[in-house]
Amino acid sequence: MHRLGAILFILVSLISFIQSKLEFITEVCRHGARAPHGDTFGTVFENGPGMLTPSGFRQHYLIGDELRNRYITGMDKSQNLLSPRFNPEEVYVRSTQSLRTVQSAYAQLLGMFPLGTAEDLRSDQIDVSIPPLNMHDLEEIITELGTDAVQDGMQPVTVKNYGQSVDSFIAYGGCPYIVNDYSRRVDDPEVWQPHDDHYRPLIFNQIAEAFEKDPDDLSFMKIYKYSDLLFAENFEGKLDRYNFTNEEWEIVRSMQVTLLIEKLSPLSSKILSLRYIFPIMELIKSSMGQDYNKELVKNFRNPKFLLLSSHDYQLSHILKLLNPENIEVTHIEYASVLIFELHRRDTRACKDSSEDACFYVKIIYNDVPLKLPGCSSIDCSFNEFRGYIESFDMTYNQMIEICFSEAPLKIPNYEEISQLLS
Ligand SMILES: *[C@@H]1O[C@H](CO)[C@@H](O)[C@H](O)[C@H]1NC(C)=O
Repeated sequence: MHRLGAILFILVSLISFIQSKLEFITEVCRHGARAPHGDTFGTVFENGPGMLTPSGFRQHYLIGDELRNRYITGMDKSQNLLSPRFNPEEVYVRSTQSLRTVQSAYAQLLGMFPLGTAEDLRSDQIDVSIPPLNMHDLEEIITELGTDAVQDGMQPVTVKNYGQSVDSFIAYGGCPYIVNDYSRRVDDPEVWQPHDDHYRPLIFNQIAEAFEKDPDDLSFMKIYKYSDLLFAENFEGKLDRYNFTNEEWEIVRSMQVTLLIEKLSPLSSKILSLRYIFPIMELIKSSMGQDYNKELVKNFRNPKFLLLSSHDYQLSHILKLLNPENIEVTHIEYASVLIFELHRRDTRACKDSSEDACFYVKIIYNDVPLKLPGCSSIDCSFNEFRGYIESFDMTYNQMIEICFSEAPLKIPNYEEISQLLS
């Protein structure tokens, strides 16, 4: 009897799993493994400060390959949201201004739309599709290309980005309040002293030894450049400064999210996160066929797949706001992926309906489906999801109002700020 019950349970779960149709996805990711931005204390990273390493490219290429499997060519047709060939109506990619996030997006898109998937050239176009330049090797290269538009049928995909100073969604721009808040906190001992007190006895001596420093010269606020270099070295197999025990290494790792979160007050943190959540919410409504705020999403088009190539910084704040019950995030690895999926329940009544009850949202972080406090299960009904976002008690207009409630304290140095995005 028990076994029958178990089989029935599995069957029912399978059916309920299958019975949905995917309507919209947003992916927020961290760039892949990269070189540190600043001093590497003698370790060589060939690719230049802050840039992706080959391992970082590989990570994102593999994400793209897996997403192709899940959302384009998978066995379960109801989850095949996107066309096998890149369609700009379906896919919108936006990156922060950093070179490494743009690089990550490109690598990922090469996995999603691999070589050979681009549209071929019509053969009668071969002799016409030539730039107004004297080509030194025209015959040779044309023969080699055949009907591939570019070599191996590679599909170039647009990756949009706006300057940090103007990007009012996925960077600091357009919100003097956050920038001021950051400037006020960055040197404020009240913010950092408690963390210093906590971590100093646990790990400062070891880090100081690794870098041949005096522990008294280290402070929690300034420790990121050391721990960040350690992560990069560790990932690339170049970490031989100090043999951390597993326990010590966990402590080094766990400082990351605290450091990122403390750069902003709870209010600014909420704003930063809502700048991601608001457009996602409006695009969800649009995908459902409901009214949505067109002004708010006008720079995201109306895609089925929105990719926001970002940093550990944004992910840590968004995850803090969402506050999932089933995971604790202390460290955001390279190439971490947060996915928002909108599903339409596959019932006859829901087939063409835009009713709230026909939809649910599933949020998945590094393959762990998140259970949000405002949702009764992992499949969060749209009503619950909207209610949960509303429980943060801020509208888009209020957010804008707070952002501009202060004039910029000083002309923000976005170069400096973007370094801090890590
Ligand atoms: C770490 O351990 C390895 C293997 O025991 C050793 O070869 C290496 O010298 C150690 N490194 C440091 C910095 O102590």
